[in-house]
Amino acid sequence: MGRDGPPRTFAKTFGRDPRGPPRYSGGGRSLSLPSMRAPALAAQMIERTLEKLESWSWDAAVIGLGYVGLPLVVTMARAGINVVGYDVDPIVVEHLASGRSHLDDVTAEDLAEVAPRTRFTTEPSTLASPDVLFICVPTPLAVGKQPDVSFITGAAEEITHELRAGHVVILESTTYPGTTESTVLPILERSGLALDKDFLLAYSPERVDPGNASFRTSNIPRVVGGASEASTKAAELVYLRFVEKVHVVPNARTAEMAKLLENTFRWVNIALVNELSFVARAIGVNIWDVIEAAATKPFGFMPFYPGPGVGGHCIPLDPFYLQWAAPALECIRGLLAGGAAVTYADPHVPSVREHGVELDAAPLTAPAIGGADCVLILTDHDAVDYNAVAQGAQLVVDTRNALGRRGLSGGNVRAL
Ligand SMILES: NC(=O)c1ccc[n+]([C@@H]2O[C@H](COP(=O)([O-])OP(=O)(O)OC[C@H]3O[C@@H](n4cnc5c(N)ncnc54)[C@H](O)[C@@H]3O)[C@@H](O)[C@H]2O)c1
Repeated sequence: MGRDGPPRTFAKTFGRDPRGPPRYSGGGRSLSLPSMRAPALAAQMIERTLEKLESWSWDAAVIGLGYVGLPLVVTMARAGINVVGYDVDPIVVEHLASGRSHLDDVTAEDLAEVAPRTRFTTEPSTLASPDVLFICVPTPLAVGKQPDVSFITGAAEEITHELRAGHVVILESTTYPGTTESTVLPILERSGLALDKDFLLAYSPERVDPGNASFRTSNIPRVVGGASEASTKAAELVYLRFVEKVHVVPNARTAEMAKLLENTFRWVNIALVNELSFVARAIGVNIWDVIEAAATKPFGFMPFYPGPGVGGHCIPLDPFYLQWAAPALECIRGLLAGGAAVTYADPHVPSVREHGVELDAAPLTAPAIGGADCVLILTDHDAVDYNAVAQGAQLVVDTRNALGRRGLSGGNVRAL
């Protein structure tokens, strides 16, 4: 980020482009404060809060230190913000407090760099002091594939005990439209404090793509929408301090639905290309050649690639790492049910204890590759030695074109 002080004016926030303020998508719109219709005290609170955000004199707490929350902590700390990292998992917190990261995307060096500005804790009372609270907790699917927002309600309840005047609460977890206003807001109001009078509340979907070195928290554009007009403005000011581009939408529901559109778009297109891969196979065409050819069209087409599945969920709102895990687990479970002896290797998943599968990862050694009747590639990790797989395996079923993309082929290789 490299910015070391607050902007003197709002326009200065995006002063990195000498031609003016091009990236502020809500630019020029004025905020009608509730002074017109609500008590003056409420208007003062909002004024004070927005001034504090605009002058970059605020600090933050991140609730949930996983794939989304921890990179957010590091990004904000790098931008000069003091951040409390709060998680209910004492092991996660213990590791982070001693400088060890549980994620590939955040290194021990990253943690050391931001150590002067970060503090990791399991103590909920630490949420009282920071000005902006980010909720980054999981939203898995419950039995029956219903969205499970219990982690969000749990985090909201923790905040409610610590809520104070001037707090800005921002939900980042992926969820269905209406969660911010219909689920989180009523819980926060149990504190006796009120939206726009005491606190502000907004939604901004996290779009982080773990493992993607080009697009990180700081340069992925942000969509923000509030539970009130002032909340939208507050969220916009918050993200402009550490994210390159902020896109403002009219309300939290719009931001929630934008995330759902993104995930559904991805889900439908992967499902489509999976179906087409069967058609291609039936007529003797290589689907990867087809996609590569179609992708040369410079407009109106975006390539998606076939794989073992897209998560098996009817509502595609879960994190991408689960979208990987579910089809892999379905395959393992099916093979076990059919009587196969199964081992798995994955540099990022040391063990699996779900979907009826209980396995520990095994090293991908030459004897393990050569000893298996079939090596099934379900996800494409750079850390895997694909040469060893192509050369040593009796049979490879490659659902990701991992070998083809590396120019590896052979009579023992079957691509999807
Ligand atoms: N992982 C991704 O690629 C990705 C991308 C975009 C959006 N998302 C969304 O972001 C959200 C978080 O996903 P994630 O992958 O970071 O999850 P994660 O499982 O990696 O981490 C969540 C963390 O939250 C903690 N937690 C749970 N309840 C808590 C509570 N009440 N208080 C404090 N901490 C609590 C857990 O202990 C865990 O450490 C989800 O809604 C997910 O769908 C994820």
